[in-house]
Amino acid sequence: MTRRKRTLSGIKPTGQPHLGNYLGMLKPALALQATHDTHYFIADYHALTTEHDPRVLRESSYELVATFAALGMDFDAHTFFRQSDVAEVTELAWILSCVTSMGLLERAHAFKDKRARNEEITHGLFSYPVLMAADILIYDADEVPVGQDQKQHLEMTRDIAQRFNHIFGETFVIPEARIEEAVATVPGLDGRKMSKSYGNQIPLFCTEQQLRKAVMRVVTDSRGVEEPKDPDTCNVFQIFRHFAPPARQAEWAARYRAGGMGYGEIKQATFEAINAEIQGYRARYFAIRDDTAALDAILAKGASKARVVAREVLRRARHRVGFA
Ligand code: ADP
Ligand code: TRP
Repeated sequence: MTRRKRTLSGIKPTGQPHLGNYLGMLKPALALQATHDTHYFIADYHALTTEHDPRVLRESSYELVATFAALGMDFDAHTFFRQSDVAEVTELAWILSCVTSMGLLERAHAFKDKRARNEEITHGLFSYPVLMAADILIYDADEVPVGQDQKQHLEMTRDIAQRFNHIFGETFVIPEARIEEAVATVPGLDGRKMSKSYGNQIPLFCTEQQLRKAVMRVVTDSRGVEEPKDPDTCNVFQIFRHFAPPARQAEWAARYRAGGMGYGEIKQATFEAINAEIQGYRARYFAIRDDTAALDAILAKGASKARVVAREVLRRARHRVGFA
């Protein structure tokens, strides 16, 4: 029997997951459980590059365990863990950093943006892509489900793996990014990419009332009810379309173009569509969120499964470079 392809992805515990995370990463990644051997983790080493409040890191990590549980991750058949529970990855990151050129890292968007804004850049932030390469390579991942914004990181991972394989002989699987093209980038309240760093997000799990309020705050243009409108450039529609079947999308797009529809109406329809999709998940989320013993047990189980794979791949890399 051929082995199932392995997927791996991580998400940083830096605040509540939002609809961009859900559509761009969580939903597609979890759907792959049916066909792949999946490995997902809480990227807390990466979060430390920007988050220096231990309470936030701890609480956000629990939120993520509860989120994966609520969205249907099967913790027995698949592997879910916390990055910092498998310290082997930092050793591999060091080994990889010795074949990674400064030039490659200097081309990273995240680094260039910070430098352009004259913000302080730590060594951890600069070497972020090396640790991410180690994350992926240490689990022999074939595919990495991520949002569009992670594409460059995946290219860097492939470069680093190829460089290592070229110098030391075939060692690592060369992974592919798996980007949900239909989703690309979900806009936030202000129309920019929905992101925790812009504070323009709609949380995935909050009360129904808070969800409705957030959707009502999505920025629209000032066209009056009677005027024809353009669904393709409307932030509300760009969120709505991910939660509505094609026929409903077409129906509402026609109403935009015809005029006579106010933004309040499509916002209400958007709220209802999101709510219908996530209300079952939300109930599961709140049922488990405060049960830290259950969440810790999930993490403990995942850590021991992840370590088995990581140790084996690290052993292979250590041998290649001449450590043992
Ligand atoms: P944030 O930008 O809010 O800090 P993260 O960097 O933690 O989000 O992203 C976690 C995952 O969610 C990544 O795979 C990322 O590509 C995806 N993602 C984040 N924001 C969006 C968005 N607005 N649209 C689509 N995917 C997104
Ligand atoms: N950089 C990713 C993000 O900001 C998180 C991440 C860390 C990741 N390591 C990874 C994603 C490995 C995929 C694979 O969203």
